[in-house]
Amino acid sequence: MVPRHRKTLRGHLATHAVHATTAFLFPLRLEGLSVGRSPHNFQREIQVHSSPTVSQAASVSRRVLRYSTTPSARNYALSDNMGQNVSTLFRANFNAAGFGSSLTADQVTEGIDLSQQTAIVTGATSGLGKETARVLAKRGAHVILVGRKMDTAEQVKSVILRETPSAQVDLMPLDLSNMESVRNFVKEFEAKNISLNILVNNAGVFNREFLFSDMGIEQMFATHVVGVFMLTELLLKKMKQSAKESGIEGRVVITGSDAHRLTSIYSDGINFESLKKPGGYDPLKAYAQSKVGAILLAEEFASRLTEEKANVTANVAHPGTVSSELGRTFIDKAIPGPDAVTDIAYKGIKPTLKTPEMGAATICYIATRPEVKGVSGKYFANCTEIQPNKDASNPQLRHKLWEYCEAITSAGVGM
Ligand SMILES: NC(=O)c1ccc[n+]([C@@H]2O[C@H](COP(=O)([O-])OP(=O)(O)OC[C@H]3O[C@@H](n4cnc5c(N)ncnc54)[C@H](OP(=O)(O)O)[C@@H]3O)[C@@H](O)[C@H]2O)c1
Repeated sequence: MVPRHRKTLRGHLATHAVHATTAFLFPLRLEGLSVGRSPHNFQREIQVHSSPTVSQAASVSRRVLRYSTTPSARNYALSDNMGQNVSTLFRANFNAAGFGSSLTADQVTEGIDLSQQTAIVTGATSGLGKETARVLAKRGAHVILVGRKMDTAEQVKSVILRETPSAQVDLMPLDLSNMESVRNFVKEFEAKNISLNILVNNAGVFNREFLFSDMGIEQMFATHVVGVFMLTELLLKKMKQSAKESGIEGRVVITGSDAHRLTSIYSDGINFESLKKPGGYDPLKAYAQSKVGAILLAEEFASRLTEEKANVTANVAHPGTVSSELGRTFIDKAIPGPDAVTDIAYKGIKPTLKTPEMGAATICYIATRPEVKGVSGKYFANCTEIQPNKDASNPQLRHKLWEYCEAITSAGVGM
């Protein structure tokens, strides 16, 4: 049983101190959008958002889940219309600083038995993927650790085995931004002739400069969207079959990001033209549109799986802002100024970030918990279903993206 975290006076003070420090150190300014925040603004936000009505709560947060019913988590869930700037990305983390969303993946999966299940975790060589793989293996799952660097994957495996000597862990190489690598991975996995119950599409990257992937398009989009589309499509047959044979609901989880909300600064949500044009590259926008794509993919997979009555769901987890390799690079880019300034700012911000142990909680929650049985096509943060932004819930954009992914993967090169 996971303890309900209480809002303490200490927690309040810590949170206010953190906000004040962050607002001071972190006057973020994106193109055309001021997102700086003063302690005064923070006070006002608290007032505006601390009294949700019951009907608001019912309509927006249809499923207020057991682990995140602290007032702050609810306010966050209700804040979809105000989530159009960088400061929102940190709001979930401030809960971690004192309002109770500091649950870890270990706590969230306590008592869960995965000994009949196999899980693939991409990006398992670092950060959230590494932690997710550790926890799923600890709960008994046969975990396929997927990464580009097999020596690092070996080290992760050793760490897992040191903690859980009985853990069943295999390593497999995969570069999601390369279609041949995805095809080879699936072929190799199928040759193992084992079931597949959980697919955690977690791998991710944040590139400060425009990079072309082997698919001939921008690399973050290739990794977070087209690679995920292809991998999931190719593995779903196995997942559906496993669900049918075992009676265990299959779960596809995609690690999304609240950074997707930054796309509100474009008109279209995803600018497909930009995927082939290094000129005018803006890393925050490029990352954001890839995460809009990731959410739209989950929605489309969910809709198709529901139509087929397959016993497999697809959902998205926002982990919070996490002190990982990627988190650091993202924040570096978001904070303007010379390296020395961003270093100091990062040190100030770091205590407010989630640890990978906390960040992996929502991923593991939707991958394993019975409370989300049958829930599909949804977006979660702090183990709570919340609304993504309008682009990430736009059915026309979803269909356009699906067609784009189909075309690109059948042609074998960027469109
Ligand atoms: N950290 C945050 O604050 C935050 C917030 C919201 C969402 N997320 C999302 O969380 C996920 C995990 O990020 P993290 O914070 O754990 O970052 P991380 O520590 O940098 O880990 C990223 C992982 O993805 C792998 N990866 C990158 N590109 C790949 C590719 N083309 N093919 C296969 N694997 C690839 C990396 O492998 P290599 O070692 O080979 O590069 C690494 O294992 C990402 O999807 C990210 O967008 C993170």
